[in-house]
Amino acid sequence: MKILFIGDIVGSPGRDMVQQYLPKLKGKYNPHVTIVNGENAASGKGLTEKIYKNFLEWGTNAVTMGNHTWDKKDIFQFIDNATYLVRPGNLPPGTPGNDIVFIKSNGKEIAVINILGRTFMQPVDDPFRKIDELIEQAKKRTNMIFVDFHAEATSEKQAFGWYIDGKVSAVVGTHTHVQTADERILPNKTAYISDVGMTGPYNGILGMEREAVIKKFLTGLPVRFEVPKEGPTQLSGVIIDIDATTGRANSIERIQINDDHPFFN
Ligand SMILES: [Fe+2]
Repeated sequence: MKILFIGDIVGSPGRDMVQQYLPKLKGKYNPHVTIVNGENAASGKGLTEKIYKNFLEWGTNAVTMGNHTWDKKDIFQFIDNATYLVRPGNLPPGTPGNDIVFIKSNGKEIAVINILGRTFMQPVDDPFRKIDELIEQAKKRTNMIFVDFHAEATSEKQAFGWYIDGKVSAVVGTHTHVQTADERILPNKTAYISDVGMTGPYNGILGMEREAVIKKFLTGLPVRFEVPKEGPTQLSGVIIDIDATTGRANSIERIQINDDHPFFN
């Protein structure tokens, strides 16, 4: 069972990359399931219903989120009916939305979980304790479990990966927007990467207009960050192959498409 995952989609440049390259990536890798992180998809922060629906129309099966889940008020209008939207699982009980989504493919189910880190981030429930609960819940239905760990610190991501090695099929990091080159299959057959990287502007800083970010560093004054409307773009992702019976990962491969790494069929 192959899973294509596309990392943090930033604004309209990121959405355009998904629309343009998803058919090509599907042609090249033949994934059974496609998952995208959409927490930055609406002008860099949050997600709207229209964009969520676009992702599904373009051929994705689930959309994961992160610390920007609630940034667009629109989310509260549609999250209760968004069957394929996965918000972070370690939020207070009673929070609207799904903390696990099950996707059907070839008569099998894949559980998709999204969970937030805590180091250098807003306070949330302990992801380590919470993931045990979510894994137990998912295991009642399937051995194939995909986890998007949305976190800042590489140390927390590595600790989390090792903590759930052998309990899930894959744990991929998101949020830092820079792809790490540490993809591997951990000893107990969980696919791991610290960060998948982002999809959107290539010459910004983490996807935002670089002039504003530099100004903030130079002056320390409050600055409004915007997604650049023009300029080169990039796509970052991974393709993961999982044994559909055992749920163990066979391989993980990084995908980068940008001016320095052009797409080849
Ligand atoms: Fe984030």
